[in-house]
Amino acid sequence: MPKPHSCSPVCEEARTTQPQTRPVRGFVDSSLDFAKENRRMKLRTLIRLFRSGQLSLLRSLTKEVRRYHRLAFLASGLSSGLLNRLAAGPVPLEGLESEFVADPAMRDGFEAWLGLGLALGELRSTSEGYTLRGKLSRRLVDPRNDAAAASIEEVVTLHNRLINESPERLRQGRPFSLADQDARLIARSSRLHEPFICEAIDEAIPQHGQVALLEIGCGAAAYIRYAAERNPELTALGLELQPAAAPLAAENIAQWGLSDRVSVEVGDVMQRASQPVFDIATLHQNIYYFPLAARTGVLRHVLSFLKPGGRLLVTTVCQGPGAAVDVLNIWGAMTEGCGRLPSPEELIGQFQQAGYTNVKLKRLVPGDSFYSFLGQRSEGS
Ligand SMILES: C[S@@+](CC[C@H](N)C(=O)[O-])C[C@H]1O[C@@H](n2cnc3c(N)ncnc32)[C@H](O)[C@@H]1O
Repeated sequence: MPKPHSCSPVCEEARTTQPQTRPVRGFVDSSLDFAKENRRMKLRTLIRLFRSGQLSLLRSLTKEVRRYHRLAFLASGLSSGLLNRLAAGPVPLEGLESEFVADPAMRDGFEAWLGLGLALGELRSTSEGYTLRGKLSRRLVDPRNDAAAASIEEVVTLHNRLINESPERLRQGRPFSLADQDARLIARSSRLHEPFICEAIDEAIPQHGQVALLEIGCGAAAYIRYAAERNPELTALGLELQPAAAPLAAENIAQWGLSDRVSVEVGDVMQRASQPVFDIATLHQNIYYFPLAARTGVLRHVLSFLKPGGRLLVTTVCQGPGAAVDVLNIWGAMTEGCGRLPSPEELIGQFQQAGYTNVKLKRLVPGDSFYSFLGQRSEGS
């Protein structure tokens, strides 16, 4: 009687004799032929692709798709909290699964997503667990680079939609709305221009003496902070249209210990009653939140908040060369109640029509179309 689980004699024989048995000659030959044929086919395909120009197309495509995947992976790694979770050191897969996967049946999906991070070189799998590997991942988890991290999320979410959906929305006559943007994310990413805007603030705000500042659309309130640190006597009102962004400003102001000098209010500057009590008003990166034809009226309304001799500082991307120009232009032109980017000459003209004097234009970023506009309410008005 055969032993349980043992092979049948035939099978046993096959197992013992197989290694010594020479393969049938014909089979060996045909497998070699097949390998040769394979090589021939590869070369033939390669030549055909090369001649048709498709080889270079495929190579460019692979390169660009990989870049796109990298950005998308980084954005999801940031927004999901994975990259920050790995910032302190390796975490075993089981630990990550318990935090990131609600349904154990979906573990394969999680490993597949991590697998993309590994393939892109952004993650590394070690005996201690997953860890950050890529230069970008490691830099983006540094809190000092929060604006860059937010920009990547903005590109992958909002920019992707702007570029992708615009043709269909144009066909349907359906613009985007402010609700299509994550106001808190935009407030964070807008800080990417901080060094350049601070330079413009240096020219507009004196270091000493009492100064009352009205900041319209204050976002994260980073520029109020800079102005308040520059001038210890400065007081400020930050006005923010979007209720989702205003709490970030208020949290920051409290955290920076500025609550005694700075207040933040939710509201639309155009709905605010005029009161000429401010020495300086600022509009940073938001003139395109107003339609082109309405901007002279907006600037005139802002003038009514300034004391005689008071000044308005506007910083904005304009039409022209620059990495942020084209997509921002789509955003302004495609979003209800907003408008395309201005040209520098256009905005200077609108300042003048609104009644400002001594209007000065300055390019803030060499080779880019990011400018400051400084105008004054005349002393006698
Ligand atoms: C791109 S963000 C810039 C935020 C900040 N100024 C900065 O540069 O970091 C523009 C901000 O302006 C605000 N805003 C737009 N129109 C406004 C209005 N009519 N009144 C008050 N705030 C407004 C938006 O809600 C948004 O938070």
